[in-house]
Amino acid sequence: MISYNEKERVFKLDTPNTSYMIGIVDEENFIGHIYYGRRLKEDEAAYLMRTGEPPFVPSKNNRERCSFYDCFPFEYPTGGVGDFRESCISVRTPGGHVGSMLSYVSHEILKGKPALEGLPATFGTEEDCTTLRLVCEDQYVGMQVELLYTVFGDSDAVTRSVRVSNIGTEPFYLTKVYSACIDMDFRDYDMVSLHGSWARERHIQREQIGLGIHNVSSFRGESSHQDHPFLALVDRNTTQENGEIYAMNFVYSGNFRAQAEVTQFDYVRMTMGIHPENFCWKLESGESFQAPEVVMVYTDKGFDAMTNTFHRLYKKHLIRGVYKDKKRPILINNWEATYFDFNTEKLLSIAREASQLGIEMLVMDDGWFGRRSFDDCALGDWKVNEDKITGGLKYLVDEVNKLGLKFGIWFEPEMISPDSDLYRAHPDWAIAIPGRPGTESRQQYVLDLSRQEVVDCIYGQVASVLRSANIEYVKWDMNRQLTDIGSYGLPADRQGELYHRYVLAVYQMQDRLTKEFPYLLLENCSGGGARFDPGMLYFSPQIWCSDDTDAVERLEIQEGTALIYPLSTMGAHVSDCPNHAVGRVTPFETRGIVALAGTFGYELDVTKIPQEDREMIPAQVAMYHKYNDLVREGDYYRIASYSQNHKYDCWQIVSEDKKQSLVTFVQVLNRVNFKSRRILLKGLDADKRYQVVFENDDNVVDRIYSGDTLMKAGLLVPNAWGDFKARLISLTEV
Ligand code: DGJ
Repeated sequence: MISYNEKERVFKLDTPNTSYMIGIVDEENFIGHIYYGRRLKEDEAAYLMRTGEPPFVPSKNNRERCSFYDCFPFEYPTGGVGDFRESCISVRTPGGHVGSMLSYVSHEILKGKPALEGLPATFGTEEDCTTLRLVCEDQYVGMQVELLYTVFGDSDAVTRSVRVSNIGTEPFYLTKVYSACIDMDFRDYDMVSLHGSWARERHIQREQIGLGIHNVSSFRGESSHQDHPFLALVDRNTTQENGEIYAMNFVYSGNFRAQAEVTQFDYVRMTMGIHPENFCWKLESGESFQAPEVVMVYTDKGFDAMTNTFHRLYKKHLIRGVYKDKKRPILINNWEATYFDFNTEKLLSIAREASQLGIEMLVMDDGWFGRRSFDDCALGDWKVNEDKITGGLKYLVDEVNKLGLKFGIWFEPEMISPDSDLYRAHPDWAIAIPGRPGTESRQQYVLDLSRQEVVDCIYGQVASVLRSANIEYVKWDMNRQLTDIGSYGLPADRQGELYHRYVLAVYQMQDRLTKEFPYLLLENCSGGGARFDPGMLYFSPQIWCSDDTDAVERLEIQEGTALIYPLSTMGAHVSDCPNHAVGRVTPFETRGIVALAGTFGYELDVTKIPQEDREMIPAQVAMYHKYNDLVREGDYYRIASYSQNHKYDCWQIVSEDKKQSLVTFVQVLNRVNFKSRRILLKGLDADKRYQVVFENDDNVVDRIYSGDTLMKAGLLVPNAWGDFKARLISLTEV
């Protein structure tokens, strides 16, 4: 709910447990940030803007205008005229000048949530949510800025976005536009962020911050393996269960910067938006620029509460399509099984065996098109290679369908190989700096998707493959980052638009795809999980989490991913050993149990794996069917973290009605002469009684306990014989 106190000129945005307050001050109508935190009963906190203290507002003390600008808690700060902290927006006029200041002009409070033109965003009906549209202007630049805030009745999230319009007569250049800012008092925060590399995505990092600027960012053209569009400022004492957290997550898949700046007065400015590096957007008179959305979550109840706020919001108000609330078919993907070395017969042999074991879909990965037998050619030539796929694609799909399996296919639509028919015909379709040799990565270039003819050509090719056979799943991959930022299609003063135009075009293509083929299960991927972000989740209900499928490596990757994203979104497969990324050998059972915390599937040659592993598949499949509704829909609690204790990992899922729960415990290295571990469960109903079953220990029933005992006294998990041993423990109300 959103209210406006006209007398005090104060806006109050309430979620079930939080309040966010904005005030308008002085004759010049500055828009200030008042408060974000636990829900307030009254809207009387405008004193937090400290306008009653020196240096006072400019109408009372104009000689210290600069001092005012440099300490006032701006709701959306500008730069160049006296606020020396990080600005949220920067514009360059035709005269080459920068410098702006925004004043409140008007506002409206709307039921529901307007869509953001061309961009993914959370959504809700008029009953679900309310939106505040604050309009402000800089009359000297001729710029209007709309600040949009939405609150949901069923979520402790506040979403924000910004729209900038040229209301003057001259064009101007937008060289920076962030989407959110909170100016607040600094309380000795730690900063929590996610980092990694290829095959090591989203490891959680927590570090103490002091005065100065601390940021995470990507200007790789995608959200990236290395960094993640997420930032949380947390109290030093915050734990899983307690403590304050201010978190921001960007609904965007390109360059970003998330930053905390601790200032001279012990204030902190937390910002998030498109990375300004190489960004410059020309706005002609009458034109607008829509910046992407930031989702903000505040809690005083620790990481479990933050996580479940994001999970529930994304499950209900971001993810779409026919698979939004549905169990996904268990797939088998041939990438780690065959790499490029496959043909119709090989795929059918895998499908035949898979169908006997309860697997429900075969996915044909990279290598089925053009002359592609390795990663050095043919991207852009999306025509089936009938030398490999003998009999053609339709024949293969029909045969797979006859075995009772669905069929899925891999594409990498955004790329072009120098050795491709497409590149030979259109060398200017690759992103490149004219006259400068291009930087190859995995022997490929990135297509210039800022050109509509390129988008149409590639979309046309992909769609025609999908129309040619009964294809029910697409894996959309993207295997390199953007370099040599230049477009043959854009004029000189619009080259700075390329990064963002590229992201908009990816969204446009996925929008077309999901509209033309609404029954498709789309799984995004980027060399593993380099584009695992809320922007892509708007189009695909699941994203391939990492190219590292090792069960132990996955503990940390999945922990970091699940910090924000629902388990239903995390692509997770059982693969063969020694693992192809790390060479580790883990029990097949453990690989299955770890993958059950994600979408679940297989990525191995099922005709070749050891017989005893193959024999375990039907039981794993049965476990998936038994528990996937709970895994997809339940609340997620982190019990112990291997990345912190270096001994064992443990997480728990609890159904909304608290009647059912599933605990996963992974003992990484065994310790000799060691006792069982006591784990304190969470989220149960203290008054309910639960039957505890150790599912993979010959279904040992470990008695019936009350939720109260399990949460306070805990459950004993016996020490297991051997390394990398996992236990799946179910709890059912009796
Ligand atoms: C990277 C993906 O993450 C892999 O799963 C696989 O599809 C390869 N690309 C294929 O090139």
